[in-house]
Amino acid sequence: MKIIVSVDKNWAIGYKGNLLQRVPEDMKQFKEKTWGKVVVMGRLTFESLPKKEPLPNRTNIILTRDKDYSVDNAIVCNSIEEVFKTTKFCNAEDIFIIGGEKIYKMFLPYCSKAYITKFHKEYPADTFFPNLDENKNWRLIEKSEEKKYQDLSFEYNTYENLNKI
Ligand SMILES: NC(=O)c1ccc[n+]([C@@H]2O[C@H](COP(=O)([O-])OP(=O)(O)OC[C@H]3O[C@@H](n4cnc5c(N)ncnc54)[C@H](OP(=O)(O)O)[C@@H]3O)[C@@H](O)[C@H]2O)c1
Repeated sequence: MKIIVSVDKNWAIGYKGNLLQRVPEDMKQFKEKTWGKVVVMGRLTFESLPKKEPLPNRTNIILTRDKDYSVDNAIVCNSIEEVFKTTKFCNAEDIFIIGGEKIYKMFLPYCSKAYITKFHKEYPADTFFPNLDENKNWRLIEKSEEKKYQDLSFEYNTYENLNKI
């Protein structure tokens, strides 16, 4: 399993149910990395998607404790165990954890890699990703050059889990 996320300087990821910033190039790389793969998300992240529709050409798994929740063209799971059962026959490298905070925290120990887009800016925020620079299980293995979008600079960082469950 792999994580894909964008974070600010403080490892913040969201505010009032939305992303902190939409950067077209980052959206494009998210699409490319997850295209044709399995994406796992929390119910709140699903409901924050622009059209409240599953992401096209991906197997969408939505986590909720609501047993009656259903979405066309998506698989609904009621627990982490159910996600593991559902994805048992998938190549683990093809499963992307796409948020939000609760789902990232829950799956972090099971992920081999994290693709982190780091914005060099602080935003007002109410949801966060664990700081991998302070987590001894995770090591930064790749860092892109600095990129620009309008007045924002950002970079793509890849971390690997040295202690995957
Ligand atoms: N920067 C990024 O890359 C990025 C990516 C994704 C999301 N985000 C942001 O993150 C924020 C949302 O994060 P969040 O933590 O509030 O919500 P979330 O993780 O998207 O969803 C939380 C929901 O998942 C379900 N859930 C959680 N644990 C569960 C479990 N053990 N079993 C079954 N279901 C479970 C619950 O749904 P029910 O309440 O229905 O039971 C819970 O309310 C938004 O602001 C979003 O924009 C940022």
